Amino acid sequence: MTKVITYGTYDMLHRGHIRLLERAKALGDYLIVGVTAEAFDRARGKLNVKQSTMDRVMAVKALGLADQIIIEEYEGQKIDDIRRYGIDIFTVGSDWTGKFDYLREYCQVVYLPRTEGVSSSALRAEERSLRLAIVGESDFLKKFYREAKAVNGLHICGLCTQRPELADAFQGQIPQVTASYEDVLEQVDAVYLMSHPKLHAEQIRQALIHGKHVLCETPLALNPDVYDELRDLAASRQLVLMDSMKTAYATAYYRLLLLVKSGRIGRVTSIDATCTSVRSMGIPKHGYDWNSICEWGSVAMLPIFQLLGTKYSSKQILSHVLADDPFFDDFTRINFVYPSAAASLCVGNGVKAEGDMVIAGTKGYIYVPAPWWKTDYFELRYENPADNKRYFYALEGEGLRYEQITFLKSVQTGTDQSYISSDVSRQIVSVVHDFYQKKDVTLLGD
Ligand code: CTP
Repeated sequence: MTKVITYGTYDMLHRGHIRLLERAKALGDYLIVGVTAEAFDRARGKLNVKQSTMDRVMAVKALGLADQIIIEEYEGQKIDDIRRYGIDIFTVGSDWTGKFDYLREYCQVVYLPRTEGVSSSALRAEERSLRLAIVGESDFLKKFYREAKAVNGLHICGLCTQRPELADAFQGQIPQVTASYEDVLEQVDAVYLMSHPKLHAEQIRQALIHGKHVLCETPLALNPDVYDELRDLAASRQLVLMDSMKTAYATAYYRLLLLVKSGRIGRVTSIDATCTSVRSMGIPKHGYDWNSICEWGSVAMLPIFQLLGTKYSSKQILSHVLADDPFFDDFTRINFVYPSAAASLCVGNGVKAEGDMVIAGTKGYIYVPAPWWKTDYFELRYENPADNKRYFYALEGEGLRYEQITFLKSVQTGTDQSYISSDVSRQIVSVVHDFYQKKDVTLLGD
């Protein structure tokens, strides 16, 4: 019996796939089809696959050509599969010619001519793409723009900034560069707001009123009542209003949450998260720079609220503010007290400390080295070091492109796919609001 194997993503199954599978089947007596898992596609940079692994498997199965379907999950698996299943022929389309010659050591390799004129990428691109404007004064917009290039169907066609240097940097790259928010709103389907947090609520409101979807850096507003109004407005207009916080989309961070939630360190008893930076823009002189509680506080609150919930019993905010700006904290520590846990965050925009995170539990703890908010690595540590485990994950674009894809999918499907639930997002707003109201705040002297 001649056993044949072939692999593919098979997203939005099309005639190119079908013809390939028919010819693969004809090469032998038994056909195994490897369908690539979502996580593997993501890790190898193939983003934007529309269908889930299970949907793609079902579509291949429904064709009735495969005698067996397997999932491809890791680099190098093809060699393992060929040995494990006793494969005689490995085949793929001619777009891969030469790429799998290394498998000739294990079996025969056949490249079949690719069907012209059809591909999953083309089918995905045919779906209406999203025209997005980016808004703000931060250099981070350059990174956002770069990352968006990796996302099929996301087109950055406007920039609204008050900062001339940034406008100059984008001239010729983005079709519309303007200082007028009204103007930019007219040309797009959605906006990404990286503007100063004090502007968020008003810019979100305007965008929603104009029927535009919004991706906004956390915190979305500085007042929880305003936050609720904006959420209601988005829901009533069937528009997406999503938090932007790349950490939530970094695979290592997300997997870490799942590990903790599945009980690997027992009951969580404490979380300590530190995020700091030395102020880059030399502000607050021209007012673009974010204070510590907005710049870093939101990120540091994320694991605390995602793991311990938003219902702490009390909190204490310790801040040092600048002499010439009572709302610019260059350093803040917040202690959250929960009924059976405690958490502490330490943030600074203008100070420097070790930016790591420790999540302690009754059985063990998780250590994430600095900078934990853009990590591709963490460790699970136990009393007996022999039980320790290290976890590594690919981190393309610090999580930003995954966030962009999630936003795009939310808009395309009309469903909220955000990794940050609205109660977490609202609680962050509420803590920031307390800081501005000086509620639970102790100011540190010079
Ligand atoms: N294939 C083919 N003819 C096409 C498209 C794909 O023969 N027009 C073959 C590929 O060479 C591969 C298999 O079908 O052996 C699965 O390919 P896959 O990457 O899933 O499909 P594409 O349409 O090429 O996907 P994408 O555009 O996302 O790369």
